[in-house]
Amino acid sequence: VSLKNFNTFGIDANARYFTEINHEDDLVELFLDEQWKHLPRLVLGGGSNMLFVADFDGLVIRMNIRGIEHRINHDHVTVEAGAGEVWNELVTYCVNYGFAGMENLSLIPGSVGASPIQNIGAYGVELKDVFHSCRAFEIATGEFKTFLKEECGFGYRESVFKSELKGQYIITQVKFDLSLNANLNLGYGAIQQELEKNNISSPTIKDVSEVVSRIRVSKLPDPSTIGNAGSFFKNPVIGEELFKQVHSQFPEVVNYPAADGGIKLAAGWLIEQCDWKGKVVGNTGTWKNQALVLVNHGGATGSEVYTLSSQIIDSVYTKFGVMLEREVNIIK
Ligand code: EPU
Repeated sequence: VSLKNFNTFGIDANARYFTEINHEDDLVELFLDEQWKHLPRLVLGGGSNMLFVADFDGLVIRMNIRGIEHRINHDHVTVEAGAGEVWNELVTYCVNYGFAGMENLSLIPGSVGASPIQNIGAYGVELKDVFHSCRAFEIATGEFKTFLKEECGFGYRESVFKSELKGQYIITQVKFDLSLNANLNLGYGAIQQELEKNNISSPTIKDVSEVVSRIRVSKLPDPSTIGNAGSFFKNPVIGEELFKQVHSQFPEVVNYPAADGGIKLAAGWLIEQCDWKGKVVGNTGTWKNQALVLVNHGGATGSEVYTLSSQIIDSVYTKFGVMLEREVNIIK
């Protein structure tokens, strides 16, 4: 089965086996057959955060559980969504109803079920800020388990589902805590500028959602026309010592304080300083408006993109002594 239409990079890799899950029961049934437990497995939501560098010699499970429901209790709103829902459709649903909390996460590609795995985030908000819990199928036992927020180990683009529990559970549903009282997060400079430009002084959540969408469209390539997986690398968090060195040589280095006392650098800036921004290399390259995004200009293979990413890591390391880490999942 070709996976070309199932990954936003548009890489033409094949899967040995492919199945679609429409209900939780489909998972129970699937894994009654022991053979699937012993094959390499990959759960696909929107396929927006992966790079296939080879054909996948195992079972690809396309998560397609749908459904969005909400309950209102005074000012508090609980929203439950099937893992196969498209993330931005959920955001739109909430914004249209006036449920506040996710508006800054507008237009992020991918599925609801994938959102906790790397704790998606943008414009000052992370998934964990609205996450209540998720339901997941445990492959080894065939049972469903609920993970509360505290059990998910959320960090910057991190969770237990990517680390300790990797490959052991399949998320089927996510529950969110939202509010009827907007508590807008407008701290991000680009949001403020865009609001001012449009003379919006007291924005609604719909305004914020629109502004964020506009910023994203202006900076990030649309995967339906140019294959990509958003930021290819994480923004590196470095220690005081290394930061001093970098800063003394490059005083203009874009940096932010990180949660755990470290310093976060803008990987896009580092990459741009190494002259990679907008470079075209064969069928691949970096995006002209955002160097952190690698793109498929058409017909690129996964290994071509991977090779470019290694070259970028090398040049950033040579110039700054900072090691970039890939954010996108590399599937071999
Ligand atoms: N910058 C450059 N050159 C570039 C790109 C960025 O100098 O080519 C500078 C910008 O001028 C700015 C800073 O780097 O000062 C940050 O840029 P931006 O606001 O575009 O955000 P980012 O740090 O590059 C992160 C997330 C994005 C998210 C945005 C907005 C990561 C890895 N990426 O990007 O998430 O949308 O912030 O919050 O944390 C994703 O994860 O796929 C993703 C798109």
